[in-house]
Amino acid sequence: MKISCDFLVLGSGIAGLSFALKAAGHGTVAVVTKREVTESATNYAQGGIASVFSQEDTFAAHIDDTLVAGAGICHEEVVRMVIEEGPPTIKSLIDWGVKFTTSGDSFDLTREGGHSQRRILHADDVTGREIERALVAAVRNHPNITVYENHIAIDLITEAKITRKRLKHNRCLGAYVLAIEAEKVKTFNARFTLLATGGTGKVYLYTCNPDVATGDGVAMAYRAGADIANMEFMQFHPTTLYHPHAKSFLISEAVRGEGAILRRRDGTAFMEKYHHLKDLAPRDIVARAIDSEMKTFGDDCVYLDITHREPEYIKGRFPNIYQTCLEYGLDMTTTPLPVVPAAHYLCGGVAVDRNAETNIKQLYAIGEVAFTGLHGANRLASNSLLEAAVYASLAYKHIVSELEADRPSLPIVPEWDSGTATNSDEMVIVSQNWDEIRRCMSNYVGIVRS
Ligand code: SIN
Repeated sequence: MKISCDFLVLGSGIAGLSFALKAAGHGTVAVVTKREVTESATNYAQGGIASVFSQEDTFAAHIDDTLVAGAGICHEEVVRMVIEEGPPTIKSLIDWGVKFTTSGDSFDLTREGGHSQRRILHADDVTGREIERALVAAVRNHPNITVYENHIAIDLITEAKITRKRLKHNRCLGAYVLAIEAEKVKTFNARFTLLATGGTGKVYLYTCNPDVATGDGVAMAYRAGADIANMEFMQFHPTTLYHPHAKSFLISEAVRGEGAILRRRDGTAFMEKYHHLKDLAPRDIVARAIDSEMKTFGDDCVYLDITHREPEYIKGRFPNIYQTCLEYGLDMTTTPLPVVPAAHYLCGGVAVDRNAETNIKQLYAIGEVAFTGLHGANRLASNSLLEAAVYASLAYKHIVSELEADRPSLPIVPEWDSGTATNSDEMVIVSQNWDEIRRCMSNYVGIVRS
């Protein structure tokens, strides 16, 4: 089965959907997503989206915080561009219907690790869910956008692959996509293909990522010959709930932003000895400090304590975290929460330029799958949703200019051929069985001992 479209978008988080909404004004868009459309890392983002909105804040301060967190290897011109694009990007999200929490006439800005100012816009403690809700509603209402749920992209189609030639200027022509329920591989041919497939958390033993974060976007791009960069910089979030029945539940950095303190089992606060910003040090420093405390004292976890704040404030500010912890028998208004670090965010990925274009023509990458240079060795908290939305807009603008210069014809591509792949290998790739991927690729790579 063949499906033709102008824009093929792989992934349905903030990156893919905000690009789709912009591009749909210029042609047909197919959004391919592994499960239901809302199942993306965006949907689980709690903290928020960082941008300069307060009178006390400046672009220079946000830029500086990003460079410091990135440990000296951010690309400064990219950092400047993304941060300066923050306010108009937030406005586009609001125009699509996203409702951020306000306080009086202004946004209620929170703080997270590594930020010198309150600059995180949020929707209570479910910011990603609110963004996803609004974008999905807008996408569903757009006549030019078709969403293919329960479809997994399994391989990119390139000119080099089809012609079996080494080409100096390779082009992407679409992707082969498995329709999971029908058990059929469909051929999508597209003028432009956009990878927005998210990260790789599920190759680690401990992660707060959803099951869809299997790294297949990076793998497909690599097989197609795209440049990949900085894959060694996997960010560990300091505070994932440590509970035998809690799968991947994140306790947002915003909890520390609102005063929570990390303590050892005996109640000792320990961040002071690691960094002058204590519990609000950049994320990598806090995660390593926790790891070090656990190893030194032989403990399975540390404790996040916000019990000194008013119970009504905690319930109002963190309704989702409060309720979820309560379901696990933990009342965070009276009990410090047991937490451990877990794999959270891939700072590297498919290398792109400032238009989000890869080294393969007509192939773009945005969001966690991409390496833009913004994050360096360690992403500043809440810069990820910002980067995804800014680069969706940059990709869109570049593609429109390409279309105006020379509209590439719709490529003719052959149907999927399983070739010589053996069944079992194929099943590992095709079924996205993360247990299997984890065993094969990265068992015991987690920061926490098993
Ligand atoms: C969090 O809420 O702590 C996660 C925010 C982020 O990853 O930027």
